[in-house]
Amino acid sequence: MKDASAPTAPQTIYLKDYAAPHHWVDTVHLTFTLAPQATRVLSRIAFVPNAENPGDLVLNGEQLTLLSLRIDGESVEYAVTDTHLTVAQADLPSGAFTFEAEVEISPQTNTALEGLYMSSGMYCTQCEAEGFRKITYYPDRPDVMGVFTVRVESELPVLLSNGNPVASGKGWAEWHDPWKKPAYLFALVAGDLIAHNDSFTTMSGKEVDLNIYVRKGDEDKCAFGMAALKASMTWDEEVYGREYDLDIFNIVAVDDFNMGAMENKGLNIFNSSCVLASPETSTDATFERVEGIIAHEYFHNWTGNRITCRDWFQLCLKEGLTVYRDQMFSGDMRSHPVKRIEEVLQLRARQFREDNGPLAHPVRPESFVEINNFYTATVYEKGAEIIGMLRRLVGDEAYYAGCALYFDRFDGQAVTIEDWLACFAQVTGRDLAQFQQWYSQAGTPRLSVTEAFSGDSFTLTFTQETPPTPGQAVKKPQVLPIAVGLIAADGTEVLPTTVLEMTQASQSFTFSGLAARPTASILRDFSAPVILTRDIDATTRAFLLAHDTDPFNKWEMGRMLAKDTLIAMITRNEAPAGDYLDALKAVLTDDSLDPAFRALTLGLPSQDDLAQTLFDAGQTPDPMAIYEAREALRHALAHHFADVLPDLFAQLDAGTFKPDADGSGKRSLRMSVLSLLSLIDAGKAAQGLFESADNMTEQAGSLLALLGAGKGEEELASFYAQWFHDRLVMDKWFMMQVATAAPLEAAQIVAKLTQHADFNAKNPNRFRAVFGALAANHAGFHAPDGGGYKLLADALIDLDSLNPQTTARLCTAFETWRRYDGDRQSMIRDQLMRILAKPDLSRDTTEMVTRILG
Ligand code: ARG
Ligand code: ZN
Repeated sequence: MKDASAPTAPQTIYLKDYAAPHHWVDTVHLTFTLAPQATRVLSRIAFVPNAENPGDLVLNGEQLTLLSLRIDGESVEYAVTDTHLTVAQADLPSGAFTFEAEVEISPQTNTALEGLYMSSGMYCTQCEAEGFRKITYYPDRPDVMGVFTVRVESELPVLLSNGNPVASGKGWAEWHDPWKKPAYLFALVAGDLIAHNDSFTTMSGKEVDLNIYVRKGDEDKCAFGMAALKASMTWDEEVYGREYDLDIFNIVAVDDFNMGAMENKGLNIFNSSCVLASPETSTDATFERVEGIIAHEYFHNWTGNRITCRDWFQLCLKEGLTVYRDQMFSGDMRSHPVKRIEEVLQLRARQFREDNGPLAHPVRPESFVEINNFYTATVYEKGAEIIGMLRRLVGDEAYYAGCALYFDRFDGQAVTIEDWLACFAQVTGRDLAQFQQWYSQAGTPRLSVTEAFSGDSFTLTFTQETPPTPGQAVKKPQVLPIAVGLIAADGTEVLPTTVLEMTQASQSFTFSGLAARPTASILRDFSAPVILTRDIDATTRAFLLAHDTDPFNKWEMGRMLAKDTLIAMITRNEAPAGDYLDALKAVLTDDSLDPAFRALTLGLPSQDDLAQTLFDAGQTPDPMAIYEAREALRHALAHHFADVLPDLFAQLDAGTFKPDADGSGKRSLRMSVLSLLSLIDAGKAAQGLFESADNMTEQAGSLLALLGAGKGEEELASFYAQWFHDRLVMDKWFMMQVATAAPLEAAQIVAKLTQHADFNAKNPNRFRAVFGALAANHAGFHAPDGGGYKLLADALIDLDSLNPQTTARLCTAFETWRRYDGDRQSMIRDQLMRILAKPDLSRDTTEMVTRILG
């Protein structure tokens, strides 16, 4: 054999360079003999040369110790580097052949949590995107699909892999997955686990065995996830006609996990925070998240697994579509308007932030160094918005017909965005060439509108413009579905929601036959992911807040009033406008409105959102001033509502805890009321609720209300005493302290918490609970002395050696640095340079920091 050469320098991979592999895979047999530091992986892979692109056998492989290698039973010449194993075409048999190899790996020392690793005594895997190459030599790319048979040998009682169980005995189990799949969907689990079991009968009458596997002690946190799984299975049959296709569906909860969850065929692996739920330990928000993520991973069985991506540039093909599907599911389970508002809040907070900074990239990127850095809000959330726009443009019927054609035509294949869109072009006869730009053009379009009324005609004139993003200086006009409605002065709707299709840089739409000038409700349901600017006075906003029939826009008007109020407070030192306070009070006390909606309307724009708004208006945001104004407005609201808060708090008791839309909506409004009330009642109501609460939503909610009012020291200690044994609850304990820390104390509090016995940087959930919360505490992170920046940089420098993925992800805390003043910019630049200077910095973090520096 030729020996390992010097480490390969990180390379940039380009979409335009895609080429089919030299070899396809037919079947794969794997035998794992598990041992913490010396697991043996024996592979037998049937390869078939690709007649259309003949060449060397090129396999990926990283951090593997190769013990033996044979082709058709014979030893051959091969070359190994730290990333690849190559057998020259000349040394290969002429037709199909069997490749056999044995490697040794060390799951216990795998702190990157990619490949095969150990978590709380169990073995588990995470292979997406390119983790399988840390398990054995393989063509680790999604267009190579094979049928896997897996044998697991271990004394641990539960041994799982993909597909259906074939046979098992003492110390071993065999699994066979009849569906061919790429290696990123491979999974293996071994541990001392308990199954929460149920079953589901599919639409064609097939019985499926369902299990959620957890560690001892977590059995009582599985029922909600199981119900969500069954609801997802039913929903995908009813809405998309998609049936499950194996005898068994397993979910496993894992404590140490970089992301939320993973859709491995028949064996979904979840971050325990995204599957475990009980009323005593989980908030309503957690229940909602669990429901959505269970659905998301289950829906991947068709959008991702049966039909997968040709290459990783097509990631949004499965992720955007699957997010869209889980959003629709959650809306059906709960409330569409409330879900939509929550989606837009997330989109603006994460995707708009990304799209308007140095990390902006197209939904289908054109290049990457480390693909894990592209599991972003843009690929996921903007990817989902594109599906929603497509549906708006073609209509429901054509949307479902296009999906049906896609499932039919591409089942069992690895495909592209072009393949997906071709189905809709065929079904509708439309030319989708311009629409396809949504996948290639980065940046958030700015849409502005002017209104004119003459005779009986009302004209809306729209202008769109997308600002430059890294690598894309000039932008073309996008196809924008703009949903509008018109409302008469007496509040009646004279034009129900109508979708205008904008394709030009500037375009007018006229509505005739109107008796009087109407008020326009524009971009209903947030029909396109754009930033809308509209010259509209506070009176019109208040009118729409009161009368708009579109719940999203009704909420949006309240939000804009809040934003204007805060901007005036920040920049002109004004007192909050009385009109705004009155309009908000009207919503707060309107019993005819959904409590969840009222809570959302009461919520104030985040400090980060205000900073971006100021920056967009050509100003330099001052984090301390933003913080002070927001606190002042909270106090003003509390005093303005003082006469109604105590009664509302009492009335909104939802009774016996049920994590449904109704109960959670009431509690959400109740917690908003409580956080204001705590500013004026010396914390009495919150202390009372903290003592009596029988569910985590109200226990954590009352603690947060106290901390937000500068109180809660004792409650924090008793919370710890009650919950120190529960990791997921302890994540909240860490997070709440950092989230509510006053700006000048945040860094100190974080430093102290990292010394706490229960802090563990190796656990991504715990690390994020502290440092993710620091990054989200806007004024604390941006404290004038730069202490927040330094603390985060120190932590990232240490974490990078252990876990590059989570490190790179948290670097996004710095992505907005260009918004701020020169002092802050230079302090941040210093920290970024310090990270970059670390010897052996991972390519994940190197790529992120380099892009952020720009
Ligand atoms: N496909 C998974 C999901 O969306 C995400 C896994 C990504 N993991 C990673 N390490 N990049 O549910
Ligand atoms: Zn996904």
